[in-house]
Amino acid sequence: MGGFWCEAITTTAMATRVQTLALLPLFLLFSPAPAADSISATSPVADGQTLVSAGGVFELGFFTPPASTARFLGIWYKGIAPLTVVWVANREAPITGTAASLAINGTGSLVLADRSGRPFWSSARSNVTSSTPVAQLLDSGNLLLQDASGTGSVLWQSFDYPSDTLLPGMKLGWHLATGLDRYLTTWASPGDPSPGDYTFAIDIRGVPEGFIWYNGTAPVYRNGPWNGLRFSGEPEMAPDNGNFQFEFVANGTDAYYTFLVDDGGGGGNVVSRFVLNQSSLQRYVWLQQQQAWSLYWSLPRDPCDGYAQCGAYGVCDASASPMCCCPAGFTPASPREWALRDGSAGCARRTRLNCTGDGFLPLRGVKLPDATNATADASVSLDQCRQRCLANCSCLAYSASSIKGGESGCIMWSSSLIDIRRFESGGQNLFVRLAASDLRMDLLSSRFNLLIIISCSKFSCYSKDVHRINARSICSHK
Ligand SMILES: *[C@@H]1O[C@H](CO)[C@@H](O)[C@H](O)[C@H]1NC(C)=O
Ligand SMILES: *[C@@H]1O[C@H](CO)[C@@H](O)[C@H](O)[C@H]1NC(C)=O
Ligand SMILES: *[C@@H]1O[C@H](CO)[C@@H](O)[C@H](O)[C@H]1NC(C)=O
Ligand SMILES: *[C@@H]1O[C@H](CO)[C@@H](O)[C@H](O)[C@H]1NC(C)=O
Ligand SMILES: *[C@@H]1O[C@H](CO)[C@@H](O)[C@H](O)[C@H]1NC(C)=O
Ligand SMILES: *[C@@H]1O[C@H](CO)[C@@H](O)[C@H](O)[C@H]1NC(C)=O
Ligand SMILES: *[C@@H]1O[C@H](CO)[C@@H](O)[C@H](O)[C@H]1NC(C)=O
Ligand SMILES: *[C@@H]1O[C@H](CO)[C@@H](O)[C@H](O)[C@H]1NC(C)=O
Repeated sequence: MGGFWCEAITTTAMATRVQTLALLPLFLLFSPAPAADSISATSPVADGQTLVSAGGVFELGFFTPPASTARFLGIWYKGIAPLTVVWVANREAPITGTAASLAINGTGSLVLADRSGRPFWSSARSNVTSSTPVAQLLDSGNLLLQDASGTGSVLWQSFDYPSDTLLPGMKLGWHLATGLDRYLTTWASPGDPSPGDYTFAIDIRGVPEGFIWYNGTAPVYRNGPWNGLRFSGEPEMAPDNGNFQFEFVANGTDAYYTFLVDDGGGGGNVVSRFVLNQSSLQRYVWLQQQQAWSLYWSLPRDPCDGYAQCGAYGVCDASASPMCCCPAGFTPASPREWALRDGSAGCARRTRLNCTGDGFLPLRGVKLPDATNATADASVSLDQCRQRCLANCSCLAYSASSIKGGESGCIMWSSSLIDIRRFESGGQNLFVRLAASDLRMDLLSSRFNLLIIISCSKFSCYSKDVHRINARSICSHK
């Protein structure tokens, strides 16, 4: 999810630029203002005043976005122009007319209110109360509200309530014990921080994976289950990238993604932010010499990133024309639309499944299908996974849940396989249940089942002739 070497042209250029950036220590370039980094119950921040983190990296204060006259309380990079806001408090309640201030009230909540006491925003209620609360802006960009005495327990932190930006160390996803769901919500427009139409969130209904949603209801993009190295749908995400470290945690208490940047043993910091910008995910890095943000990585890469581009059982291949094809044993569900290059109806089975006599067709090098209804078990081998799937008539496909150090673990699907795409490299193996008769025909046509690699070929994708489809296979074998 952002921040890895592009495989194509930009690799060397990017490498050089990020390295030059890493040589320049941030703290030498920004002279820390003598401003305070904390507020307590007796020292609010009024409009016009700011907090600056101890190392001079981030600043908190009031700002007016370009397309607005209203005031918002936000956090931005100190010393980076133009103003790059990473968090906004009162997104849903712009302050108009009167000046407001941020204070800590009698029960230890942060409250943004105007002089008459009218509240525009307050930090979420905490079960922990504190008589000595203090809010501190950290060099990570986190505004941390904690008890200044004794335990120092965290009452609230801005990192738990992201706006449109994920900073290094922020968690995108769930703390299951408390039901806390951290997700990104776009700005309504570049000049308006009120919540926009798109969100990027970790879905934990089945095997955890990230979705961009439109209006909270329509999936726009899915990054696929974490496979031990990366998200299944983001093969270019290199685990050993020198500048970034990516982590995904999914256990009984947490399900989240996070990234860290190299803290630059040589004394420099890579400055990077990950943003949901309308329907696009973007990772930016700050180029100190150019004094500019550089777009390091972004989505969508091609039309196959669009959710369910080729419908159920369809496979999207961005390097082929047409892009949609059906795996062996399937034919276009709606041949008329398919012929007009609308693959959204997907593919239908040629032969109904017959539980006992079925087998599996391997699809190599793909992004695993939508896993919201899938189940995972990391404790079994891929072979045991196959046996489990075969023994359960409602299992329609399986794959390894991890490819770290070889294929292991088990994901099983029991509803239609949606949103599969093929990658030139870095994809995974998906084993799709087929009736024995279809598998036999497939064996005949490809001679060697294990070598099936799918890809679309110009003519086979569109053929309505079952025999020709079968002879060439709809997704052709290489
Ligand atoms: C402090 O603010 C919180 C959140 O708005 C509110 O629930 C609480 O009642 C306030 N406490 C006082 C003493 O006003
Ligand atoms: C706070 O207390 C309420 C009611 O007792 C409980 O339902 C909730 O889970 C608690 N929240 C946290 C964050 O502990
Ligand atoms: C957004 O979702 C709501 C339901 O959550 C629905 O009523 C509304 O029509 C949707 N708007 C658009 C533009 O899809
Ligand atoms: C889940 O992982 C997080 C982060 O590593 C850890 O803090 C937490 O204790 C883990 N929970 C369980 C149940 O292992
Ligand atoms: C959103 O993307 C556009 C270009 O696609 C860029 O100009 C703009 O700065 C981005 N917004 C943010 C918050 O990075
Ligand atoms: C299922 O397939 C097996 C083996 O091919 C065959 O013996 C059996 O009759 C089939 N059952 C049905 C219900 O078609
Ligand atoms: C078969 O798979 C379905 C769907 O995952 C599951 O609900 C069911 O419990 C499984 N049956 C057995 C016998 O494992
Ligand atoms: C998951 O199951 C629900 C309920 O059966 C169904 O409506 C939905 O389409 C399924 N989603 C996927 C991706 O298969």
